[in-house]
Amino acid sequence: MKEGHINLYSDTQSRPTAEMRQAMIDAPIGDEQKFLDPSVNALCEYVADLLGMETAVFLPSGTMCNEIAVMVHCQPGDEIYADHTAHILNFETGGVAALSGANIFTLDGENGVFTAEQLANATRHPQDRYAPRSRMISVEQTANLGGGKVWPLEAIRSVRDAAKERHLKCHMDGARLMNAVVASGIPAKEFTQGFDSAWVDLSKGLGCPFGGVLAGSQEFINEAWRCKQRIGGAMRQAGMMAAAGLYAFEHNINKLAQDHANAKLLAKIVNTHPLIEIDPDDVETNLVFIDISKTAVSPHQVMNELEKVGINIGAFGKNLRAVTYLNIDSAQIEEAGEQILNVINRLS
Ligand SMILES: Cc1ncc(COP(=O)(O)O)c(C=O)c1O
Repeated sequence: MKEGHINLYSDTQSRPTAEMRQAMIDAPIGDEQKFLDPSVNALCEYVADLLGMETAVFLPSGTMCNEIAVMVHCQPGDEIYADHTAHILNFETGGVAALSGANIFTLDGENGVFTAEQLANATRHPQDRYAPRSRMISVEQTANLGGGKVWPLEAIRSVRDAAKERHLKCHMDGARLMNAVVASGIPAKEFTQGFDSAWVDLSKGLGCPFGGVLAGSQEFINEAWRCKQRIGGAMRQAGMMAAAGLYAFEHNINKLAQDHANAKLLAKIVNTHPLIEIDPDDVETNLVFIDISKTAVSPHQVMNELEKVGINIGAFGKNLRAVTYLNIDSAQIEEAGEQILNVINRLS
């Protein structure tokens, strides 16, 4: 990918601002893996409290948060229930199988949101020694390939209760949990209540260069630390990175509302094309999936042409995917929207 002047490929493209960089420079630091880094300790305390969990651990990436949670919750041969679009299934290079020997049973949710009934129908009889052992669910809030949909609180609670009835561990992939919080006005700990593990990503909408924070009970986090150490995720003076996270929680959460407004604006602009299928009201957070299957061009063609005019965008199946974040303003969204329409008209 050649990076252009408007990069809507993903919110992972967000850059730390000058103020965040200054906070990183000023951060008190120490040896993280000996619990001697004050900034990491403060970040973990902050996120544990935010998610209503006992404690937390700082990790280099969201992927590592997911994979370590599975390593702690599952034994080889165990089964995990997740939506068929889930990141943990599609974008972690088979980590669940490779690192934990677990199996993912996919559920066909709507926009990434599955139901308690679907879960109940999928789980195995505990006495069935031919079947894998049902062990865990993973809920992605917001659902990435589900179009940035916010799992409604009632949907999360009913899936959680169905999982608990079956003695399953509940895990939340909260890569964009703070987007859900801002879009819904519901505190993060309401979404994570009763979950055994949950995490938030720092390097997406929050604008940090690095990291995720995984939270759970003290017992869960003790085991997570063993896994972190084992796979080389234990760090040293990581406080400079943690300070970016602390800065983001203080200054960048409210800015997510602007990202959501920008996403809606882009949907409105491209919706003026008669062959583009998108309902701006369906755009709840910062992910915009633009269905161009009725046009004569493919998402990859459009993506490649846009790159030539300095605009980066993703292509997933029949959709273009654009993602907004704090370094993108509404003028850039207007330019990107116009260019998407131009390219589609020109190629058609
Ligand atoms: C839903 C979801 N989960 C997990 C991840 C992985 O996060 P990271 O890039 O920090 O490893 C992503 C990244 O895009 C994601 O969208």
